[in-house]
Amino acid sequence: MIHAISFEHGRLRYLDQRFLPLKEIYVETKDYRRAVDAIKTLAVRGAPLIGIAAGYAAVLAIAQFKGKKRSLKSHMAHALAEIEAARPTAVNLFWAAARMKAALNDAFETFDIPEIARRLQAEAEAIHHEEIANCAAIARHGLELLKRDFAHVLPHQRLTVLTHCNTGTLATGGLGTALGVIKVAYQEGLIEKVYVSETRPLLQGLRLTTYELEKEQLPYEAIADGASGFLMQREMIDFVITGADRIARNGDTANKIGTYSHAVNAAHHRRKFYIAAPVSTIDSAVSSGHQITIEQRGNTELTSIYGKSVAPVKTLALNFAFDVTPASLIAAIITEKGICEKDYTRSISTVVAKPMNGHKPLQPALLYD
Ligand code: MRU
Repeated sequence: MIHAISFEHGRLRYLDQRFLPLKEIYVETKDYRRAVDAIKTLAVRGAPLIGIAAGYAAVLAIAQFKGKKRSLKSHMAHALAEIEAARPTAVNLFWAAARMKAALNDAFETFDIPEIARRLQAEAEAIHHEEIANCAAIARHGLELLKRDFAHVLPHQRLTVLTHCNTGTLATGGLGTALGVIKVAYQEGLIEKVYVSETRPLLQGLRLTTYELEKEQLPYEAIADGASGFLMQREMIDFVITGADRIARNGDTANKIGTYSHAVNAAHHRRKFYIAAPVSTIDSAVSSGHQITIEQRGNTELTSIYGKSVAPVKTLALNFAFDVTPASLIAAIITEKGICEKDYTRSISTVVAKPMNGHKPLQPALLYD
């Protein structure tokens, strides 16, 4: 069992993913700045998990406040701004920060600081529990979609799937998004093998997805990022499924760098390319992928492996952490509230508006005020 993140007795506890699979190091902290740092350094990563960590970071921030109530709001505004500045692409970070902000505003006039703190913790735990439930619902919808789309082959053969980056328990705290669909489809006898692309530069596929598949005893093979086209040419991949960091209103999807190349390869070889993500990853304020901020990270992530430099010292590296796959290349977007298909603008607005678990979805105005 993987425990990616938890919050107990006023402490945030997370598995530091930078050291996996070689070392399983758990970190405990009462300091919100340490939680922010965990997000920045990718000790905690994956869009839904970043959102969960952001919620708990806000809980730590209020616990660290020692002043009078009149200055609580400015302390929290400061802390939430630091949390939001940790990474720019995964919208779940801003979405979770907005929920914490709304919880603070709702409680502020009526309650004292200890009660406000309790309410913030309840909100962070709600975000965490919802993301776990979302994964299970995404997996259910994904399974139905695969049974529909591969109805013609499934009676005779099982499927091979390619996935990119890590979208499992380590990225969500639950079953996973894309990897959750794969896990459940495997349990149901639909999957023969999972191809895992290494995901340079930080190797989330090779280090983390393999770690999860190994633990859950799914058959897998790692491949180089550049190998997907060749495998499709040889008819070794039936479909591709990945997660998302931000989905625009028109379905354009930002995900780990390399995702777009897999989607282009899939289109050329007439393979289905799916996205699996919770509705919290949809950014209703963004109309197309052009408006999504793409994180650029440091040189050395690309020029070194496990801290050891593998390029000439003066090598300049262009290290975009994400790319954008246009909606036209995506066969379906699987969410916890159902499946979006073309026309995405219509189907995405329908799932965003659909209530779930008694929670009203946040309006864009509230998310970005
Ligand atoms: O830089 P990372 O490791 O945070 O990037 C993660 C991804 O791109 C995932 O595919 C995405 O967040 C979906 S996680 C369910």
